Amino acid sequence: MRIAIVGGGYVGLVSGACLAAHGHDIVIVESDLGKVQSINQGNCPIFEAGLPELLAKTVGKTLKATDTIEDAVTISDATFIAVGTPFDGTSIDLTQIEQAAKDIGRALKKTSAYHLVVVKSTVVPGTTDNTVASLLEQTSGKKLGTDFGLGMNPEFLREGTAVEDFMTPDRIVLGGNDARAQNKLTQIYDCFADTDKVRVNNTTAEMIKYASNSLLATLISFSNEIGNLCSELPDTDVTSVLAGVCLDKRLSPIMPNGERVTPDITSYLAAGCGFGGSCFPKDVNALRKFSQQQGVKPSVLDAVINTNKLQPEQFVALLTDSMPELQGKTVAVLGLAFKPGTDDTRESPAIAVIQQLLKNDAQVVVYDPIVTTLPSEVPSSSNISIAKNLNEATKQADAILLVTAWDEFLALADVLNAQKRQPLVVDGRRVLTAGDFQHYRGIGLGPQTQNNGPDDDKSNKPDSNVASAA
Ligand code: UGA
Repeated sequence: MRIAIVGGGYVGLVSGACLAAHGHDIVIVESDLGKVQSINQGNCPIFEAGLPELLAKTVGKTLKATDTIEDAVTISDATFIAVGTPFDGTSIDLTQIEQAAKDIGRALKKTSAYHLVVVKSTVVPGTTDNTVASLLEQTSGKKLGTDFGLGMNPEFLREGTAVEDFMTPDRIVLGGNDARAQNKLTQIYDCFADTDKVRVNNTTAEMIKYASNSLLATLISFSNEIGNLCSELPDTDVTSVLAGVCLDKRLSPIMPNGERVTPDITSYLAAGCGFGGSCFPKDVNALRKFSQQQGVKPSVLDAVINTNKLQPEQFVALLTDSMPELQGKTVAVLGLAFKPGTDDTRESPAIAVIQQLLKNDAQVVVYDPIVTTLPSEVPSSSNISIAKNLNEATKQADAILLVTAWDEFLALADVLNAQKRQPLVVDGRRVLTAGDFQHYRGIGLGPQTQNNGPDDDKSNKPDSNVASAA
C-alpha cells in the first residue's frame, strides 16, 4: 500500500522504515529539511539499533522523505500521523497533531478516493474521534466514514530496540471509527500474519497505549517504594525480595517440561533511581490529568509520579548519608541517558541527580558512553565537567554514582583496582557486585555492616547501610 507518514522522528522513521522493508511504499513527511536530506541519502538521523541497515535497504526503493505534505498524501492510500505530543506540565500539547490534521485535510480536498488517516502519536482518549476528526472534516470538506476513515494505531516501541519491537510485535492495536477503517488498517499489517491483533474503537486504542505505559511505570515506582523500605531494614536487599516475588508462577510461569520462563515484564520489577525517557513521565502525567478532568481521582497514578519524583533524592541521600559535606568533594556521575542503549536524556534521573549535587556544591564529573554533551536542564557551572572515559571520570572521585546501567560500567571494580583507589560507590541500578568494592551503597540495600564510607565522621556507625567487602 502507498502510505504517507507525517513526522520523521523516532516513531515515524522507525515505523516507516519497517513498513517499507515489508514492501509498502512509504513517504515520510518531515518539516526539518536537514532530516529529509539525511533520510534520502540513507543517513540515519537518530541513534537506533538496526535503523541504519533498514534505511540502506529501503531508501530509494520503497522509502523516501519529503517536506511537502500535499504531494505525499495525494499519492497515498493512507496517512499516518506520527508527530510529537509533548506534555507542557498541564496537558499534552496538540499543536503538531492539529497542524498535521489540517494539512492532511487540505490535501484530501484534492483527492477523490477513500483515504485512511491513522493517528500513531500518543494522544489522550477522545482526541482522534473529536479533535482530529473535526479538523479533517473542516479542512477537507469531506465526510468521515464516507470519504475518509480514521484509525488509531498506537506504537509500542522501546528506544534502543525499536526496530526489533516493530518487526517482532507482541500485539498490534487497530483502532477505527468503523469497520471499513479497521479493515483498511488491518490490511496494512497483513504482513504480520501471526501477531495478535486487537480491533477496537479509537478511544479504546488510545486508552490501551496509556494504560500499557502506566502499568510499566507503576511496576517501577512500586519496586522503588519496596526498595526504599528495604533500605531501612537491616540485612534486607530489595533485589532478593523482588527476585522472590518474581518467582510467583503467575509472573514467571513454569512450563510443562519444568522449565521456568522469565518474561520481560519482570525486569520492570526492579528498584533504581527512577524512570525517565520521553514516554513514561509524559504519559502517566497526561493520563493522570485526563482522569482528573473526567472526575476520577487518579490515586495510583499520583503515587507513581510522586514516588518517581522523589527517587533521585532517595538516591543522592545514600551519598550524603555517608558523605554529608559535598563541598570540596569530587563526585562522578556515571550515565546521562535515561536508560542504556539510547542517547536520549529526556527526563533522565541523571538530570535531577546532577542538579542536586551542584546545589550541594560538589565538583561533578559526568561520563556516558554515548551522550557527550550535558542536557540543557543541567545548569552551566564551572563545577561540572564531562569525562571522556570511565577511568578519567573516576580517577579523582571521592564518590561514584551509577545512574544508568550501561554494560561498560560493570568494569568499574577493575578500573578502581587499577587506580588502586577505593572511593565510595553508590549503585542506583543495583548492577554492581557489592563485594567488589570497599565502600558500597545500593538502592534498596538495608543496613549491613559498620563500614560506612571512606572519610567522613559517620563511618563505623552501626546503623549504616553499607555493604562492605568480604
Ligand atoms: C516505553 C515502553 O516500554 C514502550 O512499550 C512504549 O512504546 C514507549 O515507552 C513509548 O510510549 O513510546 P521506552 O521509554 O523506550 O519505552 O523505554 P523502556 O525501555 O520501557 O524504559 C522506560 C523506563 O523503564 C526507563 O527509565 C528504564 O530505566 C525503565 N526500565 C526499562 C526498567 O526499569 N526495566 C527494564 O527492563 C526496562
